[in-house]
Amino acid sequence: MTTPAPHVLVCGGAGYIGSHMCKRLARAGCVPVTFDNLSTGHRAAVQWGPLEVGDLLRPGDLRAVLARYPITAALHFAARSLVGESVREPALYLRGNVTGTLNLLDAMRSAGVMRLVFSSTAAVYGNPITTPIDETHPAQPINPYGLSKWLAEQQIQAYCDAYGLRAVCLRYFNAAGADADAETGEAHEPETHLIPNIIRAALDPAAGPVKLFGDDYPTPDGTCVRDYIHVEDLAEAHLLALRYMDAHEGRHVFNLGVGQGYSVAQVLAQCRALCDGAPASEIHPRRAGDPATLVASAARAHQELGWQPRHDLASILASALRWHQRA
Ligand SMILES: NC(=O)c1ccc[n+]([C@@H]2O[C@H](COP(=O)([O-])OP(=O)(O)OC[C@H]3O[C@@H](n4cnc5c(N)ncnc54)[C@H](O)[C@@H]3O)[C@@H](O)[C@H]2O)c1
Repeated sequence: MTTPAPHVLVCGGAGYIGSHMCKRLARAGCVPVTFDNLSTGHRAAVQWGPLEVGDLLRPGDLRAVLARYPITAALHFAARSLVGESVREPALYLRGNVTGTLNLLDAMRSAGVMRLVFSSTAAVYGNPITTPIDETHPAQPINPYGLSKWLAEQQIQAYCDAYGLRAVCLRYFNAAGADADAETGEAHEPETHLIPNIIRAALDPAAGPVKLFGDDYPTPDGTCVRDYIHVEDLAEAHLLALRYMDAHEGRHVFNLGVGQGYSVAQVLAQCRALCDGAPASEIHPRRAGDPATLVASAARAHQELGWQPRHDLASILASALRWHQRA
């Protein structure tokens, strides 16, 4: 008799990072069961396992899915993640990301699913007081989005302490790039991320110049510096996190970044080198809540998870360009 493939619940599996994760899970011999309300995700992005349309804010939806499949672990990507919107509408973020996570924790506990990998973010740190940022840096979020992720992490901690949940919180820096086969990629609407916006503007001159926010930051060229991590490297880290929980109780936190910062101007220059000099750009005022520099120390993930990112910025840009040319 053959052993059935492990089923993994992927909340937010129709989204950008979640869909890459589903492909990676399927390649590892698992069945990714996507749970998604399709608010920002896409039905067409769910290609490697079943799609269950449902909402984290409707606990009955979650219970039904957990009853239908023999789920062994959950990956939680589903969230609202627009920083500006979170400042205008904090209630949406606290309900969606904090109550939503609480509902997932309760449904998992009732179903006896006691392993969780949670998509957290560098936004929990707020304005960095040291660079690169490691996991001991204080969490001082400066917007409701970062706060909602921090509160969700604290809920997870309480469930680990009281109920024996095992959990890994992965704090991503800037996710970017696309699947090597261009089967899935970044398709947010509205898009607030730099790389897809540069590429969209390069491929469609009618879209107008790409907007760059602020050139007066205390950085070498005045534009913001970020740590870009390939979405496939993120997916690999989740797989390692699932294995890590076999041997480790409680909640564990890991930063995921390459540890190398690139300024907005440097990213634009590398893109232009790939796109025959396009796109044109224009400088706009700083966006509220954008720290000058965000660069990760991912030493803990290297040591504890055995994780090593394989892609650099050139590979991120080339894969994203292929995806946008095909999409
Ligand atoms: N993209 C980045 O650079 C980045 C950086 C740090 C952290 N993160 C976090 O990683 C996760 C995934 O990010 P992404 O860029 O793939 O986002 P995304 O918007 O592409 O994916 C999120 C998915 O969750 C679904 N969803 C949202 N609310 C839901 C709800 N209440 N019930 C069910 N499904 C719901 C959406 O429809 C979507 O498919 C998010 O939690 C985000 O906060 C992303």
